[in-house]
Parts: sequence; C-alpha cells; structure tokens
Amino acid sequence: MSEPGSRIVQAKVKVESLKKGMVIKAYSGFSSRYNMMDALTCEFVRHNFRGTRVIVLRGDKKFNIEVEDLKPGDTLKGIHHFPPALQKLTIVTPELIGALKKRGMLAFIAVQPMLIAEQTRKELRELLQMVEETTRSQSTPAIGRNPKLRSISARIVSDLVESVQKSLPIRQETVESIQYEMDNARRGILSVKSIENSVNNITVNESIAALLAISSLKESQQTYDHCVDVGVIFQSVYLKIQTKRRKKSVFSKKNQAMLGGFLHDFGKSVVPHEILDSKKKFDKNSRPMQILRSHPIHGARQLTVLNLPKAIVEMAGYHHVKMDGDMLSSYPQDVSFKNISFEVRLLSIIDIYQALVGTRSYQRSWSPPATMRYLEALAGVEIDQYAFDLFIREMGVYPKGSLVELSDGSLGFVMNVPQGDKDINRPIIAIVRNNKGEDITHHHLLDLAVEKDISIAQDIDRKDAFGEKTVDIFTSITVS
Ligand SMILES: [Fe+2]
Ligand SMILES: [Fe+2]
Repeated sequence: MSEPGSRIVQAKVKVESLKKGMVIKAYSGFSSRYNMMDALTCEFVRHNFRGTRVIVLRGDKKFNIEVEDLKPGDTLKGIHHFPPALQKLTIVTPELIGALKKRGMLAFIAVQPMLIAEQTRKELRELLQMVEETTRSQSTPAIGRNPKLRSISARIVSDLVESVQKSLPIRQETVESIQYEMDNARRGILSVKSIENSVNNITVNESIAALLAISSLKESQQTYDHCVDVGVIFQSVYLKIQTKRRKKSVFSKKNQAMLGGFLHDFGKSVVPHEILDSKKKFDKNSRPMQILRSHPIHGARQLTVLNLPKAIVEMAGYHHVKMDGDMLSSYPQDVSFKNISFEVRLLSIIDIYQALVGTRSYQRSWSPPATMRYLEALAGVEIDQYAFDLFIREMGVYPKGSLVELSDGSLGFVMNVPQGDKDINRPIIAIVRNNKGEDITHHHLLDLAVEKDISIAQDIDRKDAFGEKTVDIFTSITVS
C-alpha cells in the first residue's frame, strides 16, 4: 500500500539500464546458465547469495525457498530478501554493474530512491532560485556571515546538546526499570509498574527529542537498551505521522505509544540468558531458535494478563510478521500481514532500524543513513512501503546524531531534520573534526540549506571515527 503520488519508483530494470545510486530489491532475470543449474552453478549461487531467498522452477512448479535449499536441476527465477551483509549486492555502483554483466545476472526489480529524485528536483529549484537572485544582484547570506541566522542555528544545536546531556540519566533509569521487570517476569512475578513510572518521567517533548538523538549515538547491545530506543523512536515518529495523516492515535494515554515500544520484546523474559546473550548464530531449526522465535507469543500473553491495551498486546505479538509470511524470519507463522495494524507495521520497521543502528552486526555497526538505505531496499518486499515512506520523512535521510563527512573532508554531526519544503539532504551540521583530521574544541556550525557550495559526501561509522567516545564528543559540542 503506497500513498498516492509516492515518489519512489519501483520498476523492472535491465542490467544495461542500472544507474549508480539505484537500490536493487530483487534479481529477476538470468542468462541460460541458470536454467536447470548444474552443481557448480548451484554452489556459486548458494555461496554468493548466502542468507537470501530464491524463486525457482523445480519440474513445472514454482518455489520460494531459502538459498541453501537450492538443488541442481532447479531453474533460477529470482533472488530476493538480501540480508544486511549483502548490502553491497543491492546498492548499484559501476563495479557492481560490471560484475553482474559478467555473471549473467540480467534483470532486476530496482528502485530509484526518492532521495535522489528529490535531490535532482531540489537542485533544479535551487539553480532557478540562484538565477533569479543573481538578476536581482542579491545573494542569500550564509550562516557564518548573517548573525541572525547564526543565532537560530546555534540555539537549535545548544538546546539539543543540553537536553541530550540531561536525558542520559533518564535513559539509564528506563533501561534499568525494563531490566528489573523482565528479571521479575523470569521469576514468575508479572508487573510493568516501574516501566510505567519511567514512562511518566519522560513527559517533556524535549527529552523525547534528546533520547531520539541518543539512539543514533549509543550502543544498545542488550534487549533492555534496545527496547528503550525502539519506544522513544516509536513515540516520536508515530505521533508526528498521525498528526500529518490527520488520524487519531490509537493510544488513549499520553506516552502510551512509548510504553508499547518499551514492552514489545517483553516476551524475551521467557528466553534463558544463555540463549539471549549468546553471540553464536543458531541454526534455523535448532531448539534455541524455536525458543527465541516464541517471544512474541509469550509477550502478547503476558501483556494480556496485565490488562494492557489491545494495541500494545498486538505490538508485542506481531512485530516479527513480514509481508512475505513464508520467510523464516516471519513469525508467528500463522499470522497474515494483511491483518497487521499500521502501528505494528511501523513498529516492526523501527525494530529493525534500531537493531542495526544500535548493535554491531557482521563485524560493523550500521550508520543511521546506511540503515535507512537498507530499509528502503526492504520496503514493499518485507516491510510496509507506506509506513516506511512516512518513517523516513520523519527521521530524515540523515537522522539526528548521524556522523557525516562533508565535501571539504571535515566530519560533523547532523543536528536537525529539515522540515517542510527544505531539502532533506541539507541539514545543519556541527563540525567536530577538521579536514586535517584534527578534533576541534571550538565547534563550527554549517547550515547546508544556506551553505550551497558544500554538501554531504558520505556517512561515517561513528565507531570507526570515535570509538566509545561518540557520546562524549557529541555532548561536548559548544557553539558560540
Ligand atoms: Fe522481537
Ligand atoms: Fe525488538
């Protein structure tokens, strides 16, 4: 389901027509060597596309199976559901196009991300504006030169940094109350009282905005931190989305959306610590995996016993249901996506977003912008396209707290999400490292909406740049 006039264009594209920046959602056309595959070709696909699902013709029947289950004699019709580790096979680059041609991968379902379409349109508008301004012999003053603009941006930045400093203990307290109640549930004592108390402590909108920025900066290796970040993002994004859609929130009390987010993985309290904290990857049919996959059912049961609202029970019960119910990562398996509410669809996107941004998976942490691009590739295939479009509009292509490298080589944190008709690719940046690689103590602000000759070159893994010090560096940002 997509909004009318949605700007994402998804189409079948031949390999010759792939363009840099497109995102491949599925491989859908192959050379003849993939017809009735021999053992070698079969192994090649299994090895290079580990973790994906494939559509094959076996005899005269079509199957949608895990790539590991591919057999010699199968005819390959499609490859989809790319895991994060294979993102490099979905983001189109000249090198990838070359490799695809060589391997006989000939057609794809790809999207031209709206970010790019949007940028081109914005650039055109900016160009026209520049022509107009030149004819009037006037130029827009940049932030460094105009004291009024400078003070507005400086205020946005110092308010955010200050509220992040204040909110760090609130976050810690909330993490502890979730841990406390989940440990109690392990011992058979079922309550969410202290989590509800924490929810009531986070009443000021300002602290929700700050907690949202912290989720881009801080690791959340454990279930408890993960739940806090998911709850905060859900509360913030959901309410804004409902206001824009002119729809009422399904939650009757203030901050109840956040409570639902905090509780979505409550069922993990039935999963033994050895399984929950294990770094080992469990086999898909193993007992530990079955126990892990039962957490939504247990969570929904526990929250029903506690008399929590239906919307919150559904968030716990259905947040792992995917558009394609046959996927192994979709559970409980007897639930159909078409019966899943908008709230749960949105929550499940935030759940994946947070899990990738907050933890280190596949030896690297995911930057918020890279995670957004990954989710964009999943939208319409595994996750709901409409909910994703609204999510990215609120979070931005560069969520607050993202670390980016600018075209002049300096590094800075993203401090706002441009709203209204402002270009989403040009937020306010607080520079923390100059282009000589030196960390700077007197921070410099750049509003990319004004400073047109500089732009974001790439996003940076905060861990690579600053290690454990990311939060400290962010909270020490001072601007005059
Ligand atoms: Fe979960
Ligand atoms: Fe989760």
